Amino acid sequence: MALRYIALLIAGLSVLTCKTWAIVDVSMEDRVDVFLKGQAEIPCIYTLKEPAKMIVWFTKWPGRDQSRRRIYYYDDQNEIIEEGSEYAGRIKVTHSHEPQNARGSAILIIDNVQLSDQREFICTVLNVSTDSAEGHTRLQIFNSPSLPVIEGMHTGISVTVEEPSKVAHCKVDDGYPRPNITWYKDRFPLQQSDEVKTMESVTTKPNSLLTVDSELYIKVKRTDEDALFYCEVKYFVPGGVRMTESKKINITVYYPTTEVTMSVNPPDRLIKEGDTVEIRCEGNGKPQPFFDFTHNGNELSSNEEMLLLENVKRSSSGTYVCQSIDFDTNTVAEDSINMTVHYLDHIVVTPEETVLDQGEDLTLTCNALSSLPTQTAWYKDGMRLVERHVLELNNASYDTAGMYMCEVTVPSLPELREQKSVQISVRGKPKITEEIAVGPVNMADRSVNLTCYAEGYPFPTITWTLSDQWTGQPVPVPEVENQKTDTGVLSMISVRAVSKLTANCSAANEFGTVNVSRKIEAFARVTTTTTQATSTKGTGLTIPPKQPRTGGGSGVIIAVIIICLLLIAILGSVLYFLYKKGKLPCGRSGKQDFTKEKASKDDIVMEMKSGKSEEAVLLQVNGDKTSPTE
Ligand SMILES: *[C@@H]1O[C@H](CO)[C@@H](O)[C@H](O)[C@H]1NC(C)=O
Ligand SMILES: *[C@@H]1O[C@H](CO)[C@@H](O)[C@H](O)[C@H]1NC(C)=O
Ligand SMILES: *[C@@H]1O[C@H](CO)[C@@H](O)[C@H](O)[C@H]1NC(C)=O
Ligand SMILES: *[C@@H]1O[C@H](CO)[C@@H](O)[C@H](O)[C@H]1NC(C)=O
Ligand SMILES: *[C@@H]1O[C@H](CO)[C@@H](O)[C@H](O)[C@H]1NC(C)=O
Ligand SMILES: *[C@@H]1O[C@H](CO)[C@@H](O)[C@H](O)[C@H]1NC(C)=O
Ligand SMILES: *[C@@H]1O[C@H](CO)[C@@H](O)[C@H](O)[C@H]1NC(C)=O
Ligand SMILES: *[C@@H]1O[C@H](CO)[C@@H](O)[C@H](O)[C@H]1NC(C)=O
Repeated sequence: MALRYIALLIAGLSVLTCKTWAIVDVSMEDRVDVFLKGQAEIPCIYTLKEPAKMIVWFTKWPGRDQSRRRIYYYDDQNEIIEEGSEYAGRIKVTHSHEPQNARGSAILIIDNVQLSDQREFICTVLNVSTDSAEGHTRLQIFNSPSLPVIEGMHTGISVTVEEPSKVAHCKVDDGYPRPNITWYKDRFPLQQSDEVKTMESVTTKPNSLLTVDSELYIKVKRTDEDALFYCEVKYFVPGGVRMTESKKINITVYYPTTEVTMSVNPPDRLIKEGDTVEIRCEGNGKPQPFFDFTHNGNELSSNEEMLLLENVKRSSSGTYVCQSIDFDTNTVAEDSINMTVHYLDHIVVTPEETVLDQGEDLTLTCNALSSLPTQTAWYKDGMRLVERHVLELNNASYDTAGMYMCEVTVPSLPELREQKSVQISVRGKPKITEEIAVGPVNMADRSVNLTCYAEGYPFPTITWTLSDQWTGQPVPVPEVENQKTDTGVLSMISVRAVSKLTANCSAANEFGTVNVSRKIEAFARVTTTTTQATSTKGTGLTIPPKQPRTGGGSGVIIAVIIICLLLIAILGSVLYFLYKKGKLPCGRSGKQDFTKEKASKDDIVMEMKSGKSEEAVLLQVNGDKTSPTE
């Protein structure tokens, strides 16, 4: 007897069950754990010297009935799996016997375990009809639940609510047996208390698996703003307990505003007229309360956290107050700031515009009103004269006349800057400061610009006269262009000087008349024989046309002819000399082919007369500069 028990213990069986005081002994495990849809093995160990005559497996219905139902029968001749039972096709039994240990086993194997298999299985072993024993094993089914899903509240939670407020919801699906949910805040489990409540509900799904929902209610504090909440799920698995955690969430905590702070944007900068200024109000509560703004006691706007002031004026200066009212707690908070809008008014110069007599004195003052210290300076022609607001002009002359500019700046706010110009004129007889200026020759139409500048006030009227130097005859004056400057008149004419001219510029006003004159050299001649000028490629040197177009003094013509003949004679002798020396390849290059009639025909030449010599150098002015070798 004792030996038998020892043998069983050695076999590692956890619990022994002896139904009857019989020779046959059956031992089975109390409970066998298995995952849903897994394979369950329920061993039934018996002690007999020989294999059992008969083995029968029953199941016991859970619940009230407790009746048995046979699912398997085995004897010497037959092995019967009960047809029509829910186990048909899902079970098999493996038999074995060890004569040396007087021990046998019948292991029930169940495939594709269902939740409905969670019940008691009974194994009955018979030697002869009178000698039997049986054992029981409860089959426990497990299913690991899904990962827990947590969801926080989408709205803020107020600290002023008396009762715990719902903070989060956690759900775990398809567990078996029932999983447990535990709530955590920052790694510490939350215990039920006055401040913490959880509400849990379990639902059985049609497939008998369980869903657990848990809601967490807490009385939130302001510090919960930074807290992380999560739920933990514990569930059984065969042979142990497992645990999973949801993701962590934070919550939005609402708390009342007890203090408001105003700020001006742009900060730390002097504000000037025309700027855009933002006045912001911020409460220390959450969410931001509604604000009321007043300016110097006048209601401005409400229900906005920012006051946008565009194009501010000096009248926008003053005290701004922002006030918040929390209707939940009836707390009022306010703040105020003083804002100054700086300005610089337009400049007033006295006198505004002045005509002085020569030798007269004048004091100009320049003033501009500003909210900040200013600097004033007077300028003329871009030069700084004085750095104060009074400018004294003594013993007026033409040099005194002109445009004076006064500038007022604000050193602490450089964008504030004003300028004003004042015209000072000095009465007197015109004064032509320089002789008539001659501009460069325009090659295209052989014209030259003559300019004459006369100072004086009232502004002088300018008269041009032109006369031919040879004949003394007046030449018609082309269109005059007059341009007023600050102190006088600049006059210009464009002259086509085909012969030597004398230009005379005369300036007059009520105080008198002055005149200057200048000799203008003739610098262009045009031959009239043909109009093919543009098609002709000129050569380097050309023979001048014999007849000048203008019938000036016949002495000039004779002189020109003599000079030409002399030149030809000199050229001829030089060429002959070169030819004799053999240095000139005769009649080869177009460069020396100056006798060609065509080349001399249409060329326009310019005469540049040197003061000391009678020689004239004749230059082609519209021909090709490069030597034509074609
Ligand atoms: C059945 O039990 C009897 C005693 O009751 C024993 O003599 C016999 O050997 C047993 N049969 C088997 C098959 O063990
Ligand atoms: C769940 O909670 C119940 C009751 O506190 C407890 O009996 C059970 O063992 C727990 N389950 C797990 C998996 O911890
Ligand atoms: C809290 O949650 C919000 C979004 O819901 C996230 O932007 C923020 O970073 C979270 N804060 C912390 C401390 O996790
Ligand atoms: C604003 O100015 C008033 C007087 O002009 C003064 O009494 C008040 O203290 C100032 N407020 C701030 C915030 O400087
Ligand atoms: C005024 O200027 C004129 C010429 O510019 C000079 O002759 C005269 O002495 C000056 N008078 C005074 C008071 O300086
Ligand atoms: C002469 O003046 C006119 C008008 O100002 C200008 O268009 C032209 O180019 C000037 N001619 C020369 C040769 O400078
Ligand atoms: C210039 O012309 C004026 C008349 O317009 C004449 O009186 C004066 O003598 C001329 N001056 C010269 C230098 O030719
Ligand atoms: C023109 O100027 C000359 C000297 O440059 C002078 O003798 C003559 O009187 C002036 N004529 C007029 C009309 O001013």
